[in-house]
Amino acid sequence: MWTLWLALACSSPAHTEPAAHPEPAADRKPEVPVSHADPGHLAVAHDHVAAADAQDLPAVMHELEVAMADLSGSLWRSDHPGVAREAQRIADHPHIAPSEIARIHAVLGDRMTAFHRADEDVHDSAVRLAEAAGSNDVPAILQHLAELQAGCVACHRGFREDLRQP
Ligand code: HEC
Repeated sequence: MWTLWLALACSSPAHTEPAAHPEPAADRKPEVPVSHADPGHLAVAHDHVAAADAQDLPAVMHELEVAMADLSGSLWRSDHPGVAREAQRIADHPHIAPSEIARIHAVLGDRMTAFHRADEDVHDSAVRLAEAAGSNDVPAILQHLAELQAGCVACHRGFREDLRQP
């Protein structure tokens, strides 16, 4: 069964800091512990999304964009806990509204499998990146960051044009 991490319901509030100006480490929110993905939980997550928590695709993507910018800001400051926190936020936090999932299904049809796979690739890279940051392994951080970025771009190249809202 697929895991659909974008559909995850999480309790964290929306992350709204401006992308271009990551905060200094001292002002950041409390540490999010690095954890491994729980496939059993992820696979059924979209059934549990509370409508009020769920977001449309552009809103989820904006959060990913901000988290990536904050992650870079942490990396430039050798703030590896900050890198781990943002990577974990990318892995865990955003979720799409069930109605949006239905729309994606309707547009993509058979290609939904590939969309899920692209989704999982990004999730898995983010988890590995969080782990690398947790162990202060800079070469591994750089490697998994490159994988993560490649995963974002791969999904965009494959699906963004088709799924963009009119
Ligand atoms: C599973 C597919 C998928 C993955 C993985 C993915 N995206 Fe997206 N992204 C999309 C689609 C589809 C759109 C177009 C959404 C729309 O315009 O409604 C999009 C749009 C965006 C946008 C533009 C939003 C806007 O306001 O027009 C940004 C920024 C973005 N993604 C960032 C990211 C980042 C950063 C990552 C990786 C951490 C990522 N995305 C991973 C599918 C994906």
